[in-house]
Amino acid sequence: MRRPLIAGNWKMNLNRAQSVALAREIAAGLNGSLSADVAVFPPAVYLDAVIAADTGLAVGAQDVNENADGAFTGEISCQMLCDLNVTTVILGHSERRNLLGETSEQVQRKTLAALRAGLTPIVCVGELLEQRQAGQTDQVVLEQCRTSLAGLSAEQMLQTVVAYEPVWAIGTGQVATPAQAEEVHASIRQWLSKSFSPATAAQVRILYGGSVKADNAAELLSQANIDGALVGGASLKAESFLGIIRATETQKVA
Ligand code: PGA
Repeated sequence: MRRPLIAGNWKMNLNRAQSVALAREIAAGLNGSLSADVAVFPPAVYLDAVIAADTGLAVGAQDVNENADGAFTGEISCQMLCDLNVTTVILGHSERRNLLGETSEQVQRKTLAALRAGLTPIVCVGELLEQRQAGQTDQVVLEQCRTSLAGLSAEQMLQTVVAYEPVWAIGTGQVATPAQAEEVHASIRQWLSKSFSPATAAQVRILYGGSVKADNAAELLSQANIDGALVGGASLKAESFLGIIRATETQKVA
């Protein structure tokens, strides 16, 4: 059985006080009743403040450097995140891939570094609009999976979360239809089954991301292979993020 995971990626938004307040408001709205795992991903400089607020929410980072230490100006290591009690990290988000030129090879090194440090990596994959229009969605997404997850043991794969985020749906309000998303999620699970084992594939959570809102979450989450959501814009307001979390309450038990 896969427990849903709802992850809020705050990206480069909010200040320190707003970050703490938002985490507190989300935790208060959950009121202890959890039909899903919930994690928030504040800007790195506010991780400490949000963790210190002790809201009970899992707190993650939006990226990490794969090296242990050294001359990497501006970067943050896995050990530094662990030192703050960060438990999870988003890797290979399309904004990093497309705006900052991050490659799947880099994402793979980061994934292994995160796993070795005991962090849960959320590895993002997703096609561009022109790739979808050219009928290359599966090819692109599975190639990103193959390279970004290369060399993981089955045990490491079980500790990893995959997020399918079609780039054309991120921040655009143009959400993938449940059927479009489910088709790619099913392909990813089939690939996991072949690359690791059917038992491993059955347990790995695959999140959907891209314009998830409270009013479209239930339908997306009802799909057989969609195990949660990676939420950007709608995670910046407690009410809309809570609405997405509540959508998991009515969902199937996989
Ligand atoms: P969005 O972002 O929900 O604002 O589309 C999703 C993401 O980038 O993870």
